[in-house]
Amino acid sequence: MAKLSKKDILRADQFTSADLDLILDRAARYEAALASNERLDPLRGKILATLFFEPSTRTRLSFEAAMHRLGGRVLSVSEAKSTSASKGETLHDTIRTVDGYADAIVIRHPEIGSAEVAAKATAKPVLNAGDGAGEHPTQSLLDLYTIRKEQGTVDGLTIALVGDLKHGRTVHSLATLLSQFGVSFLFVSPQALRMPREIAERVRANGASFRETDDLGRALDESDVVYMTRIQRERFADPAEYDRLKDAYVLTRAAVAKAKPSLTVMHPLPRVNEIATDVDDLRGAAYFRQSANGVPVRMALLALLLAE
Ligand code: NCD
Repeated sequence: MAKLSKKDILRADQFTSADLDLILDRAARYEAALASNERLDPLRGKILATLFFEPSTRTRLSFEAAMHRLGGRVLSVSEAKSTSASKGETLHDTIRTVDGYADAIVIRHPEIGSAEVAAKATAKPVLNAGDGAGEHPTQSLLDLYTIRKEQGTVDGLTIALVGDLKHGRTVHSLATLLSQFGVSFLFVSPQALRMPREIAERVRANGASFRETDDLGRALDESDVVYMTRIQRERFADPAEYDRLKDAYVLTRAAVAKAKPSLTVMHPLPRVNEIATDVDDLRGAAYFRQSANGVPVRMALLALLLAE
């Protein structure tokens, strides 16, 4: 059975193009198998632990659905308050313990770098499901899968990443991943929420180009894909600053009507108010298809990491 080049999924810059081919091809096969109700069980007898120390709907449930769909089983912690972390246990010790119960561990935690810490505490695969304002590499895989499906290709597209580019881990990982594909980025944000310089530099070093603007309307004129994000309230030290920025961008139906007819609208979800609900029934509104793609993409990852 083919393998990924690394046993842990920690950052979006770890994927070789061979890894990406392996994951996306396998995801497409699983998507077809799910659509035809095929029963799969390559992970029968395996156990996945999902440890979520921050809120989640899609990421946790789609990982768990993926494991179930492959015939595996799941142990789940969805409330950090319910674990011994609340008694002062270190992350290292928690992971050492879970190592004894599961074959792979999915972790979401508020601290940047926490997934790396977890990976050092166990020889089992660790999958980063969001480390604070750091990265969200599995999301970027399903985002890449979605763009390919919706647009037919990724190469040469103009992609607008919009909203809280400073704190948004999904856009950190997505900009990193897509920069391998010769795309042009438009980073659209208020000045205070710009893309971190190290990620902008990484994008450029990988050969992709980017421009920065605070003007969503102008960016939409040129975009093939617009990726909206939530202003990340939980990352603001000053609530007044959040209130000042929270309504920075709202994508309306009228704005989409003025953009390219082939525009794909994406959002990692949850949406607060960044996309008006009357955009949902437009042909290019892909965000619920995007979240559904989380299942086959995470099935592919789990199978490639865990199958014998
Ligand atoms: C995102 C996250 O948790 O980073 N959600 C997700 O995983 N689909 C986006 C967000 O919370 O804004």
